[in-house]
Amino acid sequence: MSRPVLVRERGALEEILSGWHRLGESVALVPTMGNLHAGHHRLVERARELAPRVVVSIFVNPTQFGPNEDYLRYPRTLERDLQGLEPLGVDLVYAPEVADLYPLGVRGAVRIEVPGLSEILCGASRPGHFSGVATVVLRLLTAVRPGVAVFGEKDYQQCALIRHLVRDLALPVVIDRVPTLRDPDGLALSSRNQYLSALERHEAPFLYRTLRAIVDALEAGSRDFLQLERDACARLEDSGWSPDYVAIRAEETLAEPDPHARPAAYRVLGAARLGTTRLIDNIGWRQS
Ligand code: PAF
Repeated sequence: MSRPVLVRERGALEEILSGWHRLGESVALVPTMGNLHAGHHRLVERARELAPRVVVSIFVNPTQFGPNEDYLRYPRTLERDLQGLEPLGVDLVYAPEVADLYPLGVRGAVRIEVPGLSEILCGASRPGHFSGVATVVLRLLTAVRPGVAVFGEKDYQQCALIRHLVRDLALPVVIDRVPTLRDPDGLALSSRNQYLSALERHEAPFLYRTLRAIVDALEAGSRDFLQLERDACARLEDSGWSPDYVAIRAEETLAEPDPHARPAAYRVLGAARLGTTRLIDNIGWRQS
């Protein structure tokens, strides 16, 4: 396989896309912020199954970072990312400058709001984050015009939000969700894992185990969602974590579930800080 073509601006992107469209070749897009790891590579492999052309976007999106978050510190590793993509059959990497995606500047940018889904769970502790995600994803979809876009389930709320966006605006794109890739000890692969100290890395799978324990309790018939959530937060706190939330939600809408609904599909989600690193994870469970 060969190195993907690197495109930094919209005009050049448009030229290549028009060529593919003329030949009737559809595109699968994998939107990323770079600093790619095996989890992203899995998304690319999935994209290859879905369309003859694969585009990976690499863009650290300023509008999804809060004032105290790590926008400037976020690792930019373009050369390493391109090398990692070489064996995967990616046709094009679109890595625009900020001005290419936000031609009127970030402050003057038209923003997308997704009410409800933006404010709950991770949105409660990261105001503006999901509006920034929706805003950049819409811009990327408009620029690349893929038939399908592939996202990882590790960012489950993000997936739900993007599906909502696509449904509400009737965008001609399918959103494909890929299950979370994990290390053998259960830790979900994430760019943030590199911030963990050796000791924290050892402790980090505890978030996954805590969510698993909830799934086991649901499996055993427990439906006291609030108590299960509280117990999970207490266990995380006892182990030195600072939980933002642990929540059992309806799988598609992320609404608070009706314990009597059957058959029911739930998502168990959690976000917690270990030292200075904020980790998130989630697991699905279906009542049979
Ligand atoms: O999941 C990410 O890496 C980002 O939130 C995304 C979807 C690329 C938007 O910047």
